[in-house]
Amino acid sequence: MVDVLGQYYRYQEEIDNAVLEVVRSGKYINGPYVQRFEKAMQDYLGVRHAIACASGTDALQLTLMAIDVKPGDEIITTPFTFAATTETIALLGATPIYVDIDPNTFNIDVEQIEEKITSRTRAILPVHLFGQPVNMTRINEIARKHRLIVIEDAAQAVGAKWEGKMACSIGDMAAISFYPSKNLGAFGDGGMVTTNDDKLAHVIRTIANHGSERAYYHDRLGVNSRLDAIQAAILNVKLPYLDEWNATRVAAAATYSEIFAAHSEHISIPKVDPHAEPIWHQYSIILKKGREPVIAYLKAAGIPHNIYYPVPLHLQKAYAQGKKGDFPHTEFAAEHILSLPIHSEITSTEAEFIAGHVLEALGL
Ligand SMILES: Cc1ncc(COP(=O)(O)O)c(C=O)c1O
Repeated sequence: MVDVLGQYYRYQEEIDNAVLEVVRSGKYINGPYVQRFEKAMQDYLGVRHAIACASGTDALQLTLMAIDVKPGDEIITTPFTFAATTETIALLGATPIYVDIDPNTFNIDVEQIEEKITSRTRAILPVHLFGQPVNMTRINEIARKHRLIVIEDAAQAVGAKWEGKMACSIGDMAAISFYPSKNLGAFGDGGMVTTNDDKLAHVIRTIANHGSERAYYHDRLGVNSRLDAIQAAILNVKLPYLDEWNATRVAAAATYSEIFAAHSEHISIPKVDPHAEPIWHQYSIILKKGREPVIAYLKAAGIPHNIYYPVPLHLQKAYAQGKKGDFPHTEFAAEHILSLPIHSEITSTEAEFIAGHVLEALGL
């Protein structure tokens, strides 16, 4: 699905040198490499603060801890996302309140959010799924009206834009993941919180450092969540190439969509909101008449594919709080979706080859 090694070999010398430099510096925790990367991300995203941490999951947890989310609080989110989004809400004892998706974009249906708001709602946590930004204009409008915090789960969307603004810079806070397969991937775990709010930034930094502003004085409950200097050095090498890599993904997505568009009776292609500039973390189609024959055909041909996500979060055992039928668009997507390879190394010939096999599998 992702050619992480192919990408490494393209930049091997630069990356190897950066890693060696950290090893030889003896500065393994925080320090200049992490600071440099935080500053580079601030500039790239156009945000006042970028706080590196150990993973995207931690980044989400830090945002929720920063606004003191407690048991009984409700956080509005989508059931069609990776478990980390809900996991962090549940870990703090709060309740995820789900809203069905818009079947065109797979993102939370913003027009159904307001009816889920109660006196216990603290925040709206939209996910820019597969790299396509959510309608942040509408979400911010709803949040302002009801005095709620907006946390963008931008784990899959670094470099994507909504109405010309970078995802990660539009809500009150955002969470980023540098998991190796992400558009900007480290060689291990890594994450980041971004915000334009000075006070929140200070609180997040403190929480990520054991709740401590001064060594061995702990004024609030915290965690240990740091980005390794080696990962920061690798990400410093990679960040300047991100736009180029995202453009390769955009081109591959266009090739897929162009080929599939003529077969709408069998295949729904992901729709792009005219205000959004997605960076295609995943390219996912809906196989209206069932995906099993296509999966079997791609498997036989050795073509990678995956299902993001087979079980919606309201039906997962760990968070079971719903029943089948609660979120019809989410459940339909979970049963019919199929993601095809898309990454920084893919060529249009490869995308055409893969799309051709999908059509062959359908007898088209
Ligand atoms: C939407 C979403 N949120 C959060 C995360 C968590 O990120 P990490 O794996 O870095 O903890 C991921 C990672 O896959 C994700 O896709």
